[in-house]
Amino acid sequence: MSERWTPDSWQRHEARQLPDYPDTEALADATRELGTLPPLVFAGEARDLQRRIADVAAGRAFLLQGGDCAETFADFDPDAIRDSFRVILQMAAVLTYASKLPIVKMGRMAGQFAKPRSQATETQGDLTLPVWRGDSVNGIAFTEQARRHDPARMLRAYGQSAATINHLRAMSSGGYANLREVQSWTHAFMAESPWAERYRAVADRIGDALDFMEACGVGPHNQPGLQTVQFFTGHEALLLPYEQALTRIDPASGKHYATSAHFLWVGDRTRFAGSAHVEFLRGIANPLGMKCGPGLEPDALLTLLDTLNPAREAGRITLITRLGSDAIGRRLPQLIRAVEREGHPVAWCCDAMHANVVRTAAGIKTRPFDRILSEARDYFAIHRAEGSFPGGIHVEMTGQDVTECTGGAVAITADALSDRYRTYCDPRLNAAQSLELAFLVGEMLDREMRTRASEAA
Ligand code: PEP
Ligand code: CO
Repeated sequence: MSERWTPDSWQRHEARQLPDYPDTEALADATRELGTLPPLVFAGEARDLQRRIADVAAGRAFLLQGGDCAETFADFDPDAIRDSFRVILQMAAVLTYASKLPIVKMGRMAGQFAKPRSQATETQGDLTLPVWRGDSVNGIAFTEQARRHDPARMLRAYGQSAATINHLRAMSSGGYANLREVQSWTHAFMAESPWAERYRAVADRIGDALDFMEACGVGPHNQPGLQTVQFFTGHEALLLPYEQALTRIDPASGKHYATSAHFLWVGDRTRFAGSAHVEFLRGIANPLGMKCGPGLEPDALLTLLDTLNPAREAGRITLITRLGSDAIGRRLPQLIRAVEREGHPVAWCCDAMHANVVRTAAGIKTRPFDRILSEARDYFAIHRAEGSFPGGIHVEMTGQDVTECTGGAVAITADALSDRYRTYCDPRLNAAQSLELAFLVGEMLDREMRTRASEAA
């Protein structure tokens, strides 16, 4: 991979999980048009995010990534965007209060349209068709027409991403993100929850802290930070023709930035050494994520880190481990030791969703809350034992009241999953489960920060 990088040099590498577009002219038309459209994010914002992730790596901040497994054209709904945004802010408020750390907030939103799949085709009855690869590639309906790989879909995904990021930016800066409001939503929400007693104390104390500050004359009128948030976007950089078309040179630095999102990650299925996806990402200057599944060997990880971050820039790489509640105890210590030994400056983030999928007796894909929690607990314990910082969590969630993951205080049973099972891809935590996870992770992070403080004393 020592050859010169260009935005299209990935095309000379092994590409997995990419669509094949039979109509090359239609592909050229779509990418040409994408190339003329405005960037969705600025390079300066991506640099700012990188500085914040450097703080995460150094134990001075915590990263919260959340959103749908797959955004879809059918579910494009401003209320759903608002609700997921709101739950992420609530989770962040709980985590901030528990840990006293700034929380770096990032949505798996405004660009999460392309999905890696385990099979290339799907068969129903006598008919075998290409599998659905996310709405930016083809349609989910089981017809030949819908499953065709259509490059024009990239333009629609861009349009929806632009509208979504606009909505997120408006909510972030237009007053919707007022901390007092965030607190009162959490309070109202908790009053109806069976676990209200357990968490009321924390929610009340956040309110008390705001009252105290207000009495001291500190409020949104003189501290705009109390009603605005910095909200970043990120998605898996799977659909390379799309990402390439939105890659631009930043005049200030002269570097190439992907402008489809602040943060891009490489998925567990496309992060093999020498892959087209790794080739593309190594040349863009955005902060990057890498999903690390149980099959990733420490040596392979180090090779990837050398490729993606040869200059060892702080904040450049976030390792998003998704090892599973059964394998994290065996796999995570080795990965941490390898990275520490080589001195690569990474931020660690725990995706406790992707390796904890089970099927119910009825064949429904779900994720038991207990397994998610177990992976999160082990993640904190292992980082403590290894002396590294458990820097963040990555969750598939929605602000809607879906029934896709079993368990949690509301105790969704396997039988109840079919009530409101709405995901197009992986099962998500609903609003209550997301908030519950934030409270529990907040307790773990609080303990970690107290232990660090006493060690430093
Ligand atoms: C995802 O994040 O939806 C995904 C496909 O993850 P992974 O690459 O970890 O399997
Ligand atoms: Co997923």
